[in-house]
Amino acid sequence: MISNNEEFISQLADKYGRNRESLLPMLQEVMDQFYYLNEDCMITIAKELDISTADVYGTASFYSFLDTNEQGKHVIRVCQTIICDMKRKEDIIDAITELIGIKPGETTHDGKFSLHYTNCLGACHKGPAMLINDEPYTELTPEKVKDILVSYMKK
Ligand code: FES
Repeated sequence: MISNNEEFISQLADKYGRNRESLLPMLQEVMDQFYYLNEDCMITIAKELDISTADVYGTASFYSFLDTNEQGKHVIRVCQTIICDMKRKEDIIDAITELIGIKPGETTHDGKFSLHYTNCLGACHKGPAMLINDEPYTELTPEKVKDILVSYMKK
C-alpha cells in the first residue's frame, strides 16, 4: 500500500518532473505541507528523482528555509546579518523569548512556534527584520514584535 507521503511526493514529481532541478521546488512544497522535511519524505524524493539520499539531505540542510527537524506551525526567522545585528536584533529575540518562552533553535511545547536565526532577508534598510512562515516583518521593535506574535497566537 502506498502511504500518503509517497502519493504526495509522486504527485510533486509529476508536477515538477523527475530530474535534479525539481529537487528544490519539491522540498519547498513538502515544507509547506508538513512544516519540515522528515526522513521518509527525503528518501522518497531521492527515489522519485533517482538521486542519492545524501544529495537530498545535503540540499535540505544547506538552505536555512528548509528544516529537517519537526517545526512549529509558525516558524519565526529573525535576521542575524550585520545590518539587523547593528539594529539590535537581539532585542527582538529577547522580546520573542519573553513572550513565548523559547530561544533560537527551539519549538514551543504546544507546537505552535519555532524560532530561528536566518541570514539577510533583503530588507536591510528596514531592519531589524524577520519572517513568520512566508510573511516578512520589518522595522521591528520589541513592542511591535509582541503585537505581531499575539495575532499569531490566535491563528
Ligand atoms: S541584514 Fe537583515 S535584512 Fe539584510
